[in-house]
This record gives sequence, C-alpha cells and structure tokens, in this order.
Amino acid sequence: MNHESVQNNSAYILDVTNLGIDFGGLQALDDFNIQVKDREIVGLIGPNGAGKTTIFNLLTSVYQPSRGNIQVTGRSTKGKTPHEVSQFGIARTFQNIRLFKNISVIDNVKIALHNGMKYSMLSAILRLPSYWREEKAATKLALELLAVFNMQDLADQPAGSLPYGAQRRLEIVRALATNPKVLLLDEPAAGMNPSETAELMSTIRDIRDQFNMAIVLIEHDMSLVMGICERILVLNYGLIIAQGTPEEIKNSPVVIEAYLGQQRGE
Ligand SMILES: Nc1ncnc2c1ncn2[C@@H]1O[C@H](COP(=O)(O)OP(=O)(O)OP(=O)(O)O)[C@@H](O)[C@H]1O
Ligand SMILES: [Mg+2]
Repeated sequence: MNHESVQNNSAYILDVTNLGIDFGGLQALDDFNIQVKDREIVGLIGPNGAGKTTIFNLLTSVYQPSRGNIQVTGRSTKGKTPHEVSQFGIARTFQNIRLFKNISVIDNVKIALHNGMKYSMLSAILRLPSYWREEKAATKLALELLAVFNMQDLADQPAGSLPYGAQRRLEIVRALATNPKVLLLDEPAAGMNPSETAELMSTIRDIRDQFNMAIVLIEHDMSLVMGICERILVLNYGLIIAQGTPEEIKNSPVVIEAYLGQQRGE
C-alpha cells in the first residue's frame, strides 16, 4: 500500500465527523457531521449566530477545531494551514467581500490563479520565456473564468469600482481560480436584488456542471437555497437541528420554530 492510499480513506469530497469548537465558554459548534459527495449541492441554513460561518472557518483551517475530524478530498486537515488545505481542493468565499479593491478585476483573478502556476520566482524576476508563457496562459484562463459570469468586459476595471453584486460574483471567480473540488459559498446572494439572485442561482448550477465540483452554500435567501440545494442542514446554537430535502425542511416544525422571530428582514 502506498502512502497516498493510506491517506485516502474517505470516499467523500468532504467528510466531517463530530466537529466542534469552543470560544471561551461558548460552544459555537458541536457534534457537527457532514459527508458531501462529488457534484452535490448542499445548503447550510440557520438563524444569525447559529455557527454557519464558523463551519467554513473550520473547514478551511482558519480555525483549528476543539474536537472532531475533517477530511478534504480524503486528506485530514488536522494541523494544516489554510494554504495547505486550499491545495487539497477546497475554496471559499467570504460573507464580507474580500477583494483587492484598488487593482483590476483580472489581476484579482490572476492572483488567485497564482497558486497553480508553475514558473519559479526567479523566472518571474528575470522575465524568462517560461514566465511569459505562463503569464499569457494565466491571462487567457482568467478571462475564461470571468466569462462564467459574463464579466470579461470588466477585466481592466478596479475591483472596488464594481457594483456590489458584481463584486460578489468576482469573489466566486477568484475561488474557482484555485481549481477546487469543493466550493464553499458564504451568503453569495447577500445584497443582491431578486433578478441578480435568480441569475446567480442558475450560474451556481452551471458551475457545478461545468467544473464538476461539490458546493456547500450558506444562504439566508430561501428561494435560492430551496431552488438549488439537493439537501439542507439546519443549524441552531451550534447544533444540527434538522436535515433533509428542501421539501422536508420547508415543512419541519423544528425549523419553523427556530426561525420564528429570528429571520433577517433582508
Ligand atoms: N473568533 C471568534 N471568537 C469568539 N466567538 C466567535 C468567533 N467566531 C464566531 N464566534 C461566535 O460563534 C457564534 C457563531 O458565529 P458564526 O459567525 O458562525 O454565525 P453564523 O451562523 O455565520 O451567523 P450569520 O448568519 O449572522 O452570519 C456566534 O455566537 C459568534 O459570536
Ligand atoms: Mg455567517
């Protein structure tokens, strides 16, 4: 048995067992389990402060868990840095947009692509032919990725000058640029109008089909979640209180109870 097959002990793209984290006295997440298959679209919902973003921070090694295990494409993330985990094949967007606002749209994408580029720092400094070849390939690839959202024409604009919805789309493009097997989207429709949200919904489906990746989606917009997720996990106070198909979740008394009086007025 080689080293690789020893490590690849999960058939899932994402395999999380008994995950938990405490912040001081607060149990922000406990006994969280999720197994995600290739090409699945899974929703993660729950009232404000339920622990949704915390899960993404744990999955990407921004936080190390207090307990439990995470495997991304068959490899344990224990003790790994966010950069190492990203190279296992996981990428995420942030609830609060994080772009390099003063640089161009295309350069934002190329910075994200940089991980996968082959040229050495030395060839970049010396501007060797290999650098220019890769640089040209990166520009072409960045434009192709922008085309997913029809954003090629915005390539030279400063990222910060884009309307809010377009900045959210650019965040997704930057995540795609790292070539993930699983994509984590933290409230991608926040601040979007209904027609932008509807378009985003169909693009998320296209992304899954075109790039063959699994997607985990945190979202408060129920039309988006119910419209594209194959199954949904509901979180409240750091615990899974329900999971099932959109239909099952819609009619679950526990879920309705958790949301009563707590749902955002967005
Ligand atoms: N670094 C931290 N230190 C202390 N407490 C934290 C930290 N990160 C999150 N928390 C707490 O953990 C709980 C879960 O927060 P989290 O951001 O995961 O919620 P959420 O479900 O994403 O909520 P929202 O829908 O508002 O984005 C909250 O009580 C939050 O205050
Ligand atoms: Mg959050």
